[in-house]
Amino acid sequence: MSKSFAVVGHPIEHSRSPELHHAFAQKTGLDIDYQKRLAPLDGFASNIKSFFASGGCGLNVTVPFKEQAFELCDVLTERAKIAKAVNTLWMENGLLHGDNTDGQGLVNAIQSLGWSLKNSKILILGAGGATRGVIYPLVQAGATHISIANRTIERAQQLVNDLKAHVTQAELSVLPLNDLNGDFNIIINATSASLSGEALCLPKTVHFEYAYEMAYGKVSSFLQQAEQRQVPTSDGFGMLVGQAIEAFYIWNGVKPELSDFLTLAPSH
Ligand code: ATR
Repeated sequence: MSKSFAVVGHPIEHSRSPELHHAFAQKTGLDIDYQKRLAPLDGFASNIKSFFASGGCGLNVTVPFKEQAFELCDVLTERAKIAKAVNTLWMENGLLHGDNTDGQGLVNAIQSLGWSLKNSKILILGAGGATRGVIYPLVQAGATHISIANRTIERAQQLVNDLKAHVTQAELSVLPLNDLNGDFNIIINATSASLSGEALCLPKTVHFEYAYEMAYGKVSSFLQQAEQRQVPTSDGFGMLVGQAIEAFYIWNGVKPELSDFLTLAPSH
């Protein structure tokens, strides 16, 4: 019988995870079943309990349940503890284990583009959950300076204060989003502005060599402005594939090659 996996969220219809995991399984010769699960907003814990009770092997968790998943785990990886959010669950020795593969997914995507993270200086726009999840993996991959710019500057400051103890190898700093300036290797848009179609302004005072947009599926105002500067850009489809590959690896012990799956991206 095939091993059973699922992604749980609310809403869930839009999720591309089943398509990705089935493609990984096909490529690696594994027999898996991967479904979408819509959990009620007030019923996440019982939903995942029944999944594992009925023999499920692994779950991905998406909006809005990643923080709840973090709270429910008996055992957490270091990067999940720092992210305070979990996107990958499995049972081991009767204990619920949780990891967060989003940050490593971003690192894999950036590296597969050939953009170096070693000794890099990075500017991240946004200070929400998406930013929290990627800082530690970026530093582990070699980033030495990370500036966080946010509309609400206090939130960026809070995030830096929270993460400082965990990322001693890198310098973390804060910038107001309406006064961006400085020279960076990579700028990353981790705000939800692109999802809601709101514009962000990249002023001439900020310089960068590469631009990464975490959202995918359409060209955001962030990507348009970066393209006008004629720097290499990417949307977040590679990060989506990257986080899925890391989850697949945790559950199955086999790591598919990211570049084999980028052609699954929808054209804009
Ligand atoms: P996520 O988990 O995706 O990071 P979140 O925690 O709601 O979502 O955070 C959303 C981020 O996008 C925040 O940094 C938010 O800025 P504020 O902290 O000031 O709210 C940012 N954001 C959302 N809409 C934005 C916009 N129109 N312009 C600039 N930043 C925006």
